[in-house]
Amino acid sequence: PTSGTVEINGKQYATDAWFNIPSTVLSLTGRKLHLQKDHPVSITRQIVESVFPKSTYRTYNHFDPVVSTHENFDSLGFPPDHPGRARSDTYYVNRDTLLRTHTSAHEAHLFGARESDGYLISADVYRRDEVDRSHYPVFHQMEGARVWNRQTVPGGDVARAVYEDLRRLPEHGMQVEDPNPPFHADRNPLQEKYHTPEEAEAVAAHLKRSLELMVCEIFSRAKSAAAAAAGGEQQQEQEPLRVRWVEAYFPFTSPSWELEVFYQGDWLEVLGCGVSKQELLINAGVPSRIGWAFGIGLERIAMLLFQIPDIRLFWSRDERFLSQFRGVQDNLALLKPFVPFSKHPACYKDVSFWLRAASAAGGNSRRANVHDWHENDLMEVVRDVAGDVAEDVRLVDEFTHPKTGRRSLCYRINYRSLERTLTNLETNDMHERVVKELVDKLGVEIR
Ligand code: PHE
Repeated sequence: PTSGTVEINGKQYATDAWFNIPSTVLSLTGRKLHLQKDHPVSITRQIVESVFPKSTYRTYNHFDPVVSTHENFDSLGFPPDHPGRARSDTYYVNRDTLLRTHTSAHEAHLFGARESDGYLISADVYRRDEVDRSHYPVFHQMEGARVWNRQTVPGGDVARAVYEDLRRLPEHGMQVEDPNPPFHADRNPLQEKYHTPEEAEAVAAHLKRSLELMVCEIFSRAKSAAAAAAGGEQQQEQEPLRVRWVEAYFPFTSPSWELEVFYQGDWLEVLGCGVSKQELLINAGVPSRIGWAFGIGLERIAMLLFQIPDIRLFWSRDERFLSQFRGVQDNLALLKPFVPFSKHPACYKDVSFWLRAASAAGGNSRRANVHDWHENDLMEVVRDVAGDVAEDVRLVDEFTHPKTGRRSLCYRINYRSLERTLTNLETNDMHERVVKELVDKLGVEIR
């Protein structure tokens, strides 16, 4: 139904033609894994929170996932044509209301609320995305922010106040690579109109040091858990943790960075952050504040901490999963890597189809838009039919007919349950339903 109402966490919302949330996703809005005692997402949240002094950083862990398009995008300076706004990427309740795609949706509100100089928000976030072992339409993020108020800083000297606060942060033994200048006119600009170089540099230094400490805490816990599981004989010569700062872009921070950690031979992106855009603070009614913000994906971190190989496991109610984390939240020393309880066989099935002619020809642009191909629509059909049995979906072949210009795609779907072995009959039946739904919902023509 396109227009009508939908209930989310006990509240009714009017839907319109923008509504695109499948019932499987709706059913997850009440799970709140970040608050479920002894769940790895909740344990990870607790570890990250523990790094930020409670006296400065207030925690907010109960914000509802339904927010306005304004909160999620406009308030943060996302341009009207930003791809993140597309219905192919975001779950909409109606034109003006959606399931937040990130915890940044609450920044403007909390900056304006002035309840503390720092905050940490943990919450479930929603994105239409591909199907594989590290993507799921619902996941959890933590947003953090810290501001200073020029009016309460002696002489308005924010830079000095920040540096004094910075000196109180403990040392960490990590190897930090930060090859770029604190800002760069083209790549990562200072907000010249509002900030002096000294204060922006001070805020950036505070941001980077705070997040380095956080990453240090997480990865030393991961290391000692792994060492304990490997038989307790802690290696004496542990290599120092390596991290690096990479320039980035977000509409609501400048300059901006991503923090990467060298882990098992690869550079791994763990968070995004930056100096908050002053327009955001001005619009929130706090023009004399200056500060930073970061956002981190909790599943991503939990997968490293606990060596959890598949993101679907977080949603499992199987005791063989949940029991492995019992007691950890009250005693982090018990933290140990997850031991996979089974490896059931994978079952690969291919589906090949022609896209609708209107899409490939592109002649009549209005019609072409209506039928435009969005891979996420296919992903959702698979998730809808197969649920958590869909492990991975990938494009394996692509072909454009030389004469007609029609496009043909072939996707390979891996069906595998985390909990049991599927029968042939079951997988065949599921795959047949996927094929039928692709025809009915997306109008493709099976080859
Ligand atoms: N919200 C951003 C994301 O989801 C992360 C971010 C948060 C970046 C805060 C900068 C500051 O990718």
